[in-house]
Amino acid sequence: MARILTGIQSTNVPHLGNMLGAILPGIELANTPGNEAFFFIADFHSLTTVHDPEVLRENTYATAAAWLACGFDTEKGFFYRQSDIPEVTELTWFLTCFFPFSRLELAHSFKDKADNLSQVSSGLFFYPMLMAADILMYDANVVPVGKDQRQHIEFTRDVAERINNRFGAETFVIPEARTEESVQVVPGIFKDAEGNFAKMSKSYGNTIVVFEDDKKLRKRIMSIQTDTTPMEEVKNPDTCLVYTLYSLIATAEQTAELREAYLKPGMGYGWAKEQLYKAILERFGEARERYNFYMGNKKELDLKLQEGAEKAGTVAYEVLSRVRSKLGYKKLAYFGGEI
Ligand code: ADP
Ligand code: TRP
Repeated sequence: MARILTGIQSTNVPHLGNMLGAILPGIELANTPGNEAFFFIADFHSLTTVHDPEVLRENTYATAAAWLACGFDTEKGFFYRQSDIPEVTELTWFLTCFFPFSRLELAHSFKDKADNLSQVSSGLFFYPMLMAADILMYDANVVPVGKDQRQHIEFTRDVAERINNRFGAETFVIPEARTEESVQVVPGIFKDAEGNFAKMSKSYGNTIVVFEDDKKLRKRIMSIQTDTTPMEEVKNPDTCLVYTLYSLIATAEQTAELREAYLKPGMGYGWAKEQLYKAILERFGEARERYNFYMGNKKELDLKLQEGAEKAGTVAYEVLSRVRSKLGYKKLAYFGGEI
């Protein structure tokens, strides 16, 4: 049996990159017989950048609603808020004491994020250790993530191996990253300063949020940057973002049809964008309805998260007790530890 685990930060409403790169592949793995899934909302990670309690709370609900809207079966799996399981912060401390500072300084994701912020907290720097704790806390085997997060899984393996070498191989389960080849990095909708479409990311403000209402969603799609090839000339689908996004969402047959339209004179980008909009509504129509249901019924979300915290907390307590005794600490006293 493989234990699958992944988390999404609650810094915003999940976007198309999060859905195609993390949520949907995660749910597919969760539904594979023999797998057991741990999916959570990484709301402690959000604190590295979000300092408004109302925004944090609302986005935590939005992230939870997105998982449920996409069809995660919480009866079968584990579904929880990271902040409901305080053991994870203790494990983070243990890990930081075994991981070289100089390795953390090499984190790409930190450098990318720090470059875009006027003030960089030390929490942002130690963020990969909290992520390692998220994974090691539940003895996870497989971690589905986008390409940008693979280095963090390398750090996780590294710190777990260092501790296992010192205290015994049974201290931590060594996880592996799983990246969906076809959607490694979903590009964002505007070009960056170098003229490239950077990864779609909350941090770059270049996202498509499929849960937005029809009007906003359509407006966003219409704002995708395209080139200035006139209507009467043929267009190059392979350099056009509208086509790239369409190919990630529509069926192979629909994609081949759109390709043909690009290669014939007379197609306008406005029309291509309209096709993309329709494809999004078709593919995510039911998920959009379920999302709205949960966002209008937050009690339902709270109940599911509460049940999930109880289930996940049992595992976290057991794993933390094991690690504590390896390192030379007693079991957590407030749960009737040892005298
Ligand atoms: P963001 O970059 O918008 O802050 P997160 O870092 O919270 O997104 O990412 C949550 C999950 O979604 C991670 O597994 C990440 O790899 C995946 N992900 C984020 N953006 C993309 C993208 N553009 N393409 C593919 N996967 C992505
Ligand atoms: N750091 C991840 C991101 O920004 C989110 C995350 C937190 C995560 N903890 C995790 C992903 C554990 C996988 C496993 O995308």
